[in-house]
Parts: sequence; C-alpha cells; structure tokens
Amino acid sequence: MDIPTEGAAKAKYLAAKKALEFVKPGMKLGLGTGSTAAYFVDLLGEKVAEGLEVLCVPTSSVTKAQAEALGIPLTTLGEIRWLDLVIDGADEFDGRMNLIKGGGGALLQEKLVATAAEKMIVISDNSKRVRTLGAFPLPVEVVRFGWEVTENKILEIISRAFVGGVGISRRMDGDKPFVTDEGHYILDLHLKKIDEPPVLAAQLKEVVGVVETGFFIDICKVIVVGKEDGTTRVIDTRPAFRPVH
Ligand code: A5P
Repeated sequence: MDIPTEGAAKAKYLAAKKALEFVKPGMKLGLGTGSTAAYFVDLLGEKVAEGLEVLCVPTSSVTKAQAEALGIPLTTLGEIRWLDLVIDGADEFDGRMNLIKGGGGALLQEKLVATAAEKMIVISDNSKRVRTLGAFPLPVEVVRFGWEVTENKILEIISRAFVGGVGISRRMDGDKPFVTDEGHYILDLHLKKIDEPPVLAAQLKEVVGVVETGFFIDICKVIVVGKEDGTTRVIDTRPAFRPVH
C-alpha cells in the first residue's frame, strides 16, 4: 500500500490506522466502503497476513473484492448475524454524531451491517465535521419501479421540511443511472442544511418506494478523526465506564 503523506488522503489514512487499535484478535468485524474504509481494509489485510485472526463482513461488492484480494477471512451477515465492531467512513457528521453516508452508494448494506454491530466507529478526515448536516447531498435509496412517483413524494416532503434547499438528482454512473448492489436507484437530495435530521429521516422512511436513507442517527458513538498535521482525535460519546465497588 502506498502511504499518503499529505492532504485529506493522509488524514484518512491516519484515522484508519488509529482505528486499527480498536481491533482485537477473534473479533467479528464489519468493513465499510469508501476511500477511508479502503485504507482500513488495506491495514487490516497487513495484520491478517501477520497472523491476526478476525472474521469480516464487507458492506459492498467493492470492499468484498478488496478484502478477498488481501486474504481477509469473510462471511456474510446472514451467516454471522452479529458483529463486535464495524469501521466505516462518513460523508458528514455533526456534534451529535448524526451522519450522512452513501456518497459511495453503499448506504443500505452499510446500515444493515452497522445496526447489527455492537459498536460503530467512523473514520474520517477533519473536513467531514459540520455544524449542521446537509451541505453534502443526502442519498436516498429507492426502488426502480415507479421511482419518479417516489421522487415526487420526496419533493413534497422536503418542500415542507426545515431545510435550506429542495433539489433532487438521480445518481448517475456515466450516462447510465447508478444502480446499487441491491439493484436500486439513488436520489441525492440537495438540501444545503438540515435542521432536524431525525424528523426528516422518519418522514422519508414513510414513503413507499424509499428503501433507506443515508442518515445514520444514533448509531455511531465513536469517531476517529485524522488531521493533515499528523495527529488523530478520538471523539467518544459513550457514557463513561463506572466501576461497581
Ligand atoms: C459509501 O457508501 C459511503 O457511505 C462512504 O462511507 C462515505 O461516502 C465516505 O467515503 P470516503 O471515505 O471516500 O470519503
């Protein structure tokens, strides 16, 4: 692996490296998707080659291919049912640890894996931290059948929501619509700012045709942030451990 020495790539790599400290022998791990998670998978592959024993569930076909090539032992979520830890990237996170994910199109499998894990650790460079979510377009995964109707219903919702914009675009892959690993389309919601993420998340989930949104609310409690100056910071909002005497 080429180790990045500057810019956001360096920060992402450092976050991934720091997150490796949370991995213990014998753990069942979820492997995220995206450029930051890819650094983590590379680093984990090195540890596996040195003898670390873990069993992993990838969150996308891309991550699966990467992990397989590195010889990381894999299984499926259906087989294993429960994970100790998932490590994944994010597109944005706020001070309440609400996330927007799905910039890479893997939000559905990422959320399935994250909600089957004891703990989710997000790894990120410093640029993803925001005061209010929404500058990054919110991905919404929708079934292909009648997606135009679903889009209209979503438009109605965001027109009434406390957000800063109402644009919607269907994700493209070159000149064709992007299709997720689960065979769905993604609508990117250009909202600029989202004042009440939990409210909007619930409203969008009510729409027939919406499979999942890129909101990750109350799922992640630990974020490892890498910085270009070479430092890392672990933001941990779990209640402090209090020993019982
Ligand atoms: C993949 O679908 C996403 O949720 C990624 O985790 C997210 O887009 C972060 O990607 P980067 O690590 O490439 O910024």
